[in-house]
Formats: sequence, structure tokens, C-alpha cells
Amino acid sequence: MILVNDRFVERTEATVDIEDRGYQFGDGVYEVIRVYGGAPFLLDEHMARLARSLREIRLEPPYGIDELTDKIRRLITLNALGDGIVYLQITRGASPRTHGFPKNAHSVLTAYTQTLDRPLQALQEGIRAHLTEDIRWLRCDIKSLNLLGSVLAKQEALDKGCAEAILHRGKTVTEGSASNVFALIGGVWFTHPANHLILDGITRRSVLRIMQELDMPAKEEAVTVEQLLAAEELIVTSTTQEVMPVVAVDGRPIGDGSVGPWTRRLQEAFEAAIRETANRSS
Ligand SMILES: Cc1ncc(COP(=O)(O)O)c(C=O)c1O
Repeated sequence: MILVNDRFVERTEATVDIEDRGYQFGDGVYEVIRVYGGAPFLLDEHMARLARSLREIRLEPPYGIDELTDKIRRLITLNALGDGIVYLQITRGASPRTHGFPKNAHSVLTAYTQTLDRPLQALQEGIRAHLTEDIRWLRCDIKSLNLLGSVLAKQEALDKGCAEAILHRGKTVTEGSASNVFALIGGVWFTHPANHLILDGITRRSVLRIMQELDMPAKEEAVTVEQLLAAEELIVTSTTQEVMPVVAVDGRPIGDGSVGPWTRRLQEAFEAAIRETANRSS
């Protein structure tokens, strides 16, 4: 089933107006929520970020966040989702095409589930990443539907045989095309501060909490490309990539080119949080 505004409908009934502003302008926001063993992971944090994104683009959702949270849980149950994701977006709705906000349009909410296995092999072996200039707009803190900058960066990385693009503005590393970046330098984890240049990832926050619990020093401070390439360990984090080791950047090994011990400890703690979520639902 698909959630369309306040109704659960079959996929064939879930249609989009050709004048929907999400479709024409990317005028909307979204969230991707991980589900483990039928239980949504960090759902309240995703919903709080969604509410913030909505406020920042001055978009009124069709109904309140509490009701939406209930409906997301219901969608997971209706679709008997085990391991997977919920994709959810809200657009400014359909109206004759003009840039300014339409007076009479109603926002349109859609959400669906998708089965997705954990990327276990990549989590074990690590991935290769590719560095590329960050060409995106200056409000990367909003989880906006406008993803062309990220799409182009990711494809550039894939074309080079890499799984993720690491973005930099000039010398400064910002984040991944669809992830946040942490570099272990001199025994301290560095990640870009949560300002307008990055999306404050829900996984990023969760990993920062884990670092605190494990007494691993962490600083929300940007690093340069040069520092990143000299890091002892490197990870990217996201809802679907979890705590993903990066073992090489543009063909240059990070550390000794294998997954480091600090990364493994983070992965173990993150796994424990996942297991806790999955156990709660069973
Ligand atoms: C640009 C960007 N940064 C960071 C992230 C990670 O965010 P989260 O951990 O909430 O999935 C994403 C996720 O898609 C992203 O697109």
C-alpha cells in the first residue's frame, strides 16, 4: 500500500498530477527512514527533522507530525515490512506553473515502503570513495527534493568505480553525496559542523552519541582535503549506509587500506542499537 495524504491506496491508484510542484520545481522535502525487523529506527528524530525542513521552506503539511508518525507505523504494518525503508515526501501540491507560492494549492504527501537488505559485504570490506567539488546550493541543511547536485556527484563516483562521492568546497570537505563524513585524525574524529553546508544526518547524530559513550574524542570541525587523505580511518554515515568504512579515496589508501579498529568499535555499537530496535518489535 502507498500512503497518499491521509489514505492508504494500492500502487496503481497512487498517481501524481503533472503540475505537482515537487515534479516541476523539486518544491518539497523528504525523509528516508530505516526499518529493521519491522521496527522503524530513530523515527522521532526523522520526524523532527522533517518538521524543521517543512518550516524552512514555509510548507504546511496536510496534517500534523504526530498523525503522520502514526500513519508511517501503520504503513509498515500494512506492508508487512521487515528490513527496508520508508520513503516519504511532501510537496507544495499542484497548481498552474509559476515560481511563486500558489494561493490555493494543497500540499501533497506520499509515502511507500521498500524492502532493503543491509549492505553487509560493504560494511565488512569498506568502500572506495571519489572526491569532487560540492556544487550544491547553500541550504544543504534542508532535506529538499532538489538532489541534482548529489545525483551528478554520485554518478561521477560510480563512473570511477567508487561507491560514494566525498564533496569539498574549495579545500574544505563538507559531506558525502548521500552521507556525512567522519575522519579520524590524530585520534580524534572530525566531522563538518551542522550548518547550512551539510545535512545534519540522523545517523551522524547517532554516531556522535556513540562516540561519546565509547569515550572516543570527536569534534564538529571541518577538515581539508589534504587532512582527509592523511586520515587514520574514514567513515561515511547514513540511514542506508550505516557506519560505512572508506578504505581508499581516489585510489589512495586510507591508513593501511583496511578497515580500522575504531571503525569496527563504532560498527559494533551501532549494530547493538539496531538489534535493540529490532528486538523491541518482536
Ligand atoms: C546529503 C546528505 N547528507 C547526509 C545524509 C545522511 O543523513 P541520514 O543519516 O539522516 O540518512 C544524507 C542522506 O541521504 C544525504 O543525502
